[in-house]
Amino acid sequence: MKNIQRHRVFNLLQESSSHLIGKEVNVKGWVRTRRGNKNVAFIALNDGSVIHSIQVVVEVQGFGNDELLRQITTGACISVNGTLVESLGKGQRVEIHAGEIFVYGSADPEKYPLQKKGHTLEFLREIAHLRPRTNTFGAVFRLRHALSFAIHKYFNDNGFYYLHTPIITGSDAEGAGAMFRVTTLDMKDVPRKKDGGVDYSQDFFGKETNLTVSGQLEGELGALALSNVYTFGPTFRAENSNTSRHLAEFWMIEPEMAFYDIHDNMDLAEDFLKYLVTYILENCNDDLEFLQKQYDHGLIERLQHVTQHTFQRMSYTEAIEILEKSGKKFEYPVKWGVDLQSEHERYLVEQHFKKPVILTDYPKEIKAFYMKQNDDGKTVRALDVLFPKIGEIIGGSQREEDYDKLHKRIEEMGIHQEDVWWYLETRKFGTAPHSGFGLGFERLMLFVSGMGNIRDVIPFPRTPQNAEF
Ligand code: 4AD
Ligand code: MG
Repeated sequence: MKNIQRHRVFNLLQESSSHLIGKEVNVKGWVRTRRGNKNVAFIALNDGSVIHSIQVVVEVQGFGNDELLRQITTGACISVNGTLVESLGKGQRVEIHAGEIFVYGSADPEKYPLQKKGHTLEFLREIAHLRPRTNTFGAVFRLRHALSFAIHKYFNDNGFYYLHTPIITGSDAEGAGAMFRVTTLDMKDVPRKKDGGVDYSQDFFGKETNLTVSGQLEGELGALALSNVYTFGPTFRAENSNTSRHLAEFWMIEPEMAFYDIHDNMDLAEDFLKYLVTYILENCNDDLEFLQKQYDHGLIERLQHVTQHTFQRMSYTEAIEILEKSGKKFEYPVKWGVDLQSEHERYLVEQHFKKPVILTDYPKEIKAFYMKQNDDGKTVRALDVLFPKIGEIIGGSQREEDYDKLHKRIEEMGIHQEDVWWYLETRKFGTAPHSGFGLGFERLMLFVSGMGNIRDVIPFPRTPQNAEF
């Protein structure tokens, strides 16, 4: 086969490819469909660069290689040399008239699971190794990329430094959820201490270690030196929550800012979310339109709505009053002191205010030890951002910078000093007011993609009883 310059489908379908019309080009990709008759074959070829496939037209008579043509079925991987021509057919600007074709890999039509269109998302989860080949998952994973890129761009443009916090951690201080243990001990012959407990001093790190639930505590160390930092990495929670909004392994973005109070923190959270949604609206239109058509007819309007309205800000206490007065029967009854469930959060956002809501000043009993304590002795400077269709998308707070107050809270909550001595030292040496928050990446992906289940916005979901791929 002749060596001709390869083009991505994305580039060929752009207006700017006009100068290539009439020229020979090469494309490589996977066959989505093949139609036609004994004279001519129409192959929809997709290389994942864009939701659209490019049409390859083959004059069957005279092509002279029937065996090769027979291998060109849905799922096969091929390379095509041909002439780029303006298309007479509807729905595409250009197509390729094939000269030469090479088959990298055929896909037996009897066995290839993605033979037909219209598989359920549940079925596709069972073939997570092949589902990137569908239009849906191509769109979702391109959105995931665009959103990741926009996150780094936003922070870079705003003077934040990307801090890499550890995945393996020796502290369980955050208390955000059950942890996955990391060990090299022999499970069949676990070393024991005299009291019968596991002797972790013989483990790899010489102490008990786990996968992190959050990069925040280390992020704070960074902020108290570099002023504005962020983490963006995987976090792990071993809860057995089998919902459409929980993963055992999810990605979290955690900015942490010195000299920010809770109001600065809220301003940042709102600006950040609006920037990201705007970025997706401006850069991912083809994929959004596809997802809107297939899954969520209100998608683009909902995204625009979020960018156009000021988020409603109010205290947890005020929100409880609204919920109590709503007259709604919730599955989990509300009263001051309870943790809000997504049914409550979504009522506030979708029915009461009809826009995103930021709640602040939660009861200290339902929040983490590090949150700044209010003078009322009952609440802390927490903030949660609540989104339509999702509920909580961001959790954060102003942090307690006072050594004595923080130390007292650590004792009250029974947290082991030896786990957090290094964290406490930041309050001993050059402490400063500071704030931060955590954005659940897959929660935001749910929002921007319109998908209904968090398992469908991450390539390889980790949920209870599921780590096959
Ligand atoms: O509210 P969370 O637990 O907050 C923290 O971990 C803080 N350390 C963040 C900080 O202040 N730096 O989690 C933050 C966000 C949630 O609002 C939610 O969007 C997401 O992480 N999240 C999950 N996403 C998917 N699956 C789960 N199991 C999640 N748990 C939390
Ligand atoms: Mg939270």
